[in-house]
Amino acid sequence: MVKTSFKIGNVEFKNRVFVASGTFGYGDEISELLDIKKLGGIFTKSLTLKPRKGNPPPRIVETASGLINSIGLANIGVEKFVSEKLPLLKQLNAVIIANIAGGTIEEYCRVLEKLESANGITAYEINISCPNVKEGGLNFGTDLKATAEITKMVRRLTSKPIILKLTPNVTRVSEFAKAAESEGADAVSLINTLVGMAVNVKTRKPKISTVTGGLSGPAIKPVALAKVYEVVNAVKIPVFGIGGIANTEDALEFLIVGANAIQVGTANFINPNISVSIAEGIEKFCLDNGIADVGMIVGSLDTSGNESVLKSWL
Ligand code: SIN
Repeated sequence: MVKTSFKIGNVEFKNRVFVASGTFGYGDEISELLDIKKLGGIFTKSLTLKPRKGNPPPRIVETASGLINSIGLANIGVEKFVSEKLPLLKQLNAVIIANIAGGTIEEYCRVLEKLESANGITAYEINISCPNVKEGGLNFGTDLKATAEITKMVRRLTSKPIILKLTPNVTRVSEFAKAAESEGADAVSLINTLVGMAVNVKTRKPKISTVTGGLSGPAIKPVALAKVYEVVNAVKIPVFGIGGIANTEDALEFLIVGANAIQVGTANFINPNISVSIAEGIEKFCLDNGIADVGMIVGSLDTSGNESVLKSWL
């Protein structure tokens, strides 16, 4: 038996592999597609106070080893989520981490309050890193004061774990992780997408309606690993590694670098069961290598003989 569980704040999660926000809807369709008991949990699509239609199409385009999206936080709104989705999720005993977005700090707080009073949510991921909206999103995620303020405000409203989802579209992501940590965040997750663009050379039009969007998928994995490496060397709170994880080896790279857990995103669109395969693959890796606890892999990067340029400016 390999120990796969780990703790964030006061909550123990069964596994270190999770499904990333926006790649599995609200989690209610998952029972047909994968065995949720084998995962740590499901991060929901971002929830806002009111329903949102999102951005006009085209809002997804495939690129080399990646995907650019500009969904614009389309969602059914927190009230409908609570009345229509949450009851089923409770029946399924699904571990749900609600991803929260908003145009103002007040909106984040109100969404969290509604979820808190509904029961059934295990933790909250605060999305301050969506690159596809004019209000909120990167305005918060690229502003240290706003990151600290939003963390402080949501922290007051719950004793459940608060996870700040960070953007890589800043110079020093570790500063943002520190700001979240100092105001009581239990964990951070990174990276959200990198601002990206694609152009149709025949029409000379952008391939995404909003001109730019967020790049995800294998193309961003090396950037994500470096950002996670930066953050784990700067904060003490747990870190969720996200970015282009498509197989067991990718996930192990993040754990070795120091991520306490990982989220699988874009790869779900190719194989909805991939996160379970990754969770099983990590367990097999441990068995094959005589490792009793997946946690023993976390931060096991061997840099002896290497000089980290990145660490020198932390
Ligand atoms: C979107 O809805 O546009 C993507 C969400 C995100 O990047 O956080």
